[in-house]
Amino acid sequence: MARSSTLLPVAVALLGAVAAAAAAAETPALKSVAPPGLRIGVALGRKHSDGKDPAGLALVARHFNQVTPENVLKWGPVHPEPGRFDFGPADRFVALGERHGMFVVGHVLLWHQQTPAWVFAGTDGGKLDRETALARLRSHIQAVAGRYKGRIGGWDVVNEALEEDGTLRKTPWLEAIGEDYVERAFAFAREADPAAELYYNDYNLWKPAKRDAAIRLVRGLEAKGLRVDGIGEQAHWGVDDPPLADIDAALGAMRAAGLVPHITELDIDVLPRDPDMWGADLSRKQQIRAATNVYPDGLPPAMQEKLARRYADVFRLFLKHGVARVTLWGVTDADSWLHDFPIPGRVNYPLLWDKDGREKPAFDAVLEVLREHGGSRP
Ligand code: G3I
Repeated sequence: MARSSTLLPVAVALLGAVAAAAAAAETPALKSVAPPGLRIGVALGRKHSDGKDPAGLALVARHFNQVTPENVLKWGPVHPEPGRFDFGPADRFVALGERHGMFVVGHVLLWHQQTPAWVFAGTDGGKLDRETALARLRSHIQAVAGRYKGRIGGWDVVNEALEEDGTLRKTPWLEAIGEDYVERAFAFAREADPAAELYYNDYNLWKPAKRDAAIRLVRGLEAKGLRVDGIGEQAHWGVDDPPLADIDAALGAMRAAGLVPHITELDIDVLPRDPDMWGADLSRKQQIRAATNVYPDGLPPAMQEKLARRYADVFRLFLKHGVARVTLWGVTDADSWLHDFPIPGRVNYPLLWDKDGREKPAFDAVLEVLREHGGSRP
């Protein structure tokens, strides 16, 4: 008797899991209800491309037709030392995308973060000079974009080149090469893979000054004869901000300028915001963590619904403006970088599946909006 009463809850839980899996299997795939021309993508970590998360991979294979690597193609992981490349993880990532017939995006050829110190070091222990910086950039892009020529369909060429006020960010790239470094990166990428789509990628492009600067930047590249195939808004957003009207205006302005918007890193932070949280020192961060880590044991139903409404609202805008792609930044809540950013050690719930891979109300909401606009295709 004691034994069966111990086993009963286990059996009930197992039946529940089987029922949930069966229900999930009947759910239409996101990619199958999206309108033609809209790719539904997801960022993959090493646990996916190294085959260590079979349940996550099943969701990826079922729902998505585009993949972006969260880290393995960044300069640091793929080219850690001069002349030494570590292509193993990236090769596995690209092969995974190909196995599933997905559109593979490369992220990223030039960024000021996750770039090893040697890249920005001068040859004689002094400052990095323009010619050395350009030579390093060109040989990196040749090696990385060249290796996957014809296999990676689109590249984030330059990431986060702009400050919030629209001026060029003061990075080592700008300092060493000068203002034409963006143009040179696009030219090197085009040379390495003439057929690949090339994108400019940044965050907060819903802010008018930054948005207009990004549009000017891309139009400037085009005026120099460089083809730019898309402008990426990362879309690391909150549940209350940015305002929908600003997102609407930004996507509209990109379209009006003749550019193709991509949503490249979508997630929605549900935790309360603190104006200091991005620049705080350690002790202030600890205070902010204590005040804002408000759902350590699960997301309350009202918040689940709010998140679902927010996802529906932003997807309606994506469809209104015909974005070419929406890429979620992680598969399940277990994958998200937001547990540790900008405040380490909080529990966040930014994606469409919970940490155990169960569909959230936000998943249903996105499915519904896609269905309304897209319908089902084989
Ligand atoms: O791989 C190392 C591992 O060897 C080491 O033991 C461990 C210890 O910290 O770190 C591991 O590297 C981490 C890496 O993610 C892989 O997990 C880095 O510390 C960590 O900083 C890195 O964070 C990534 C972050 O970019 C770096 O800035 C996040 O996963 C990734 O989601 C995030 O992605 C960026 C986009 O590229 C650009 N847009 C913003 C977005 C969010 O920051």
